[in-house]
Amino acid sequence: MATVHVLPLAIDLDVPEGQTVMQAARAAGYAWPTVCDASASCGTCVSVIKEGLDNCGPLPEDERETLTRTLVPLDGQRRLACRLTVSGPVTLQKRGVRVAEDGTS
Ligand code: FES
Repeated sequence: MATVHVLPLAIDLDVPEGQTVMQAARAAGYAWPTVCDASASCGTCVSVIKEGLDNCGPLPEDERETLTRTLVPLDGQRRLACRLTVSGPVTLQKRGVRVAEDGTS
């Protein structure tokens, strides 16, 4: 379990090992911007890592392909929340994360 601090909403998410940040956000009752429903194809969930880069999991091939296709630099600081796993504290920025209106994303 690791904590991800999400800006600018300033919430802390508990992200279990093996879960993505988006899965953990949904489980906690938050909606994360998405068009492809977390299938790593739209790029809408891209988030900027502000702290804890070393605690971010490896870049899966489908995430790499989408970041490349959507012209997002492969600098490690921009990651798809629908693929991002973490092993320790991370702070990231993603505008549009909000409390899910119906309790689901
Ligand atoms: S939600 Fe579409 S790429 Fe992550």
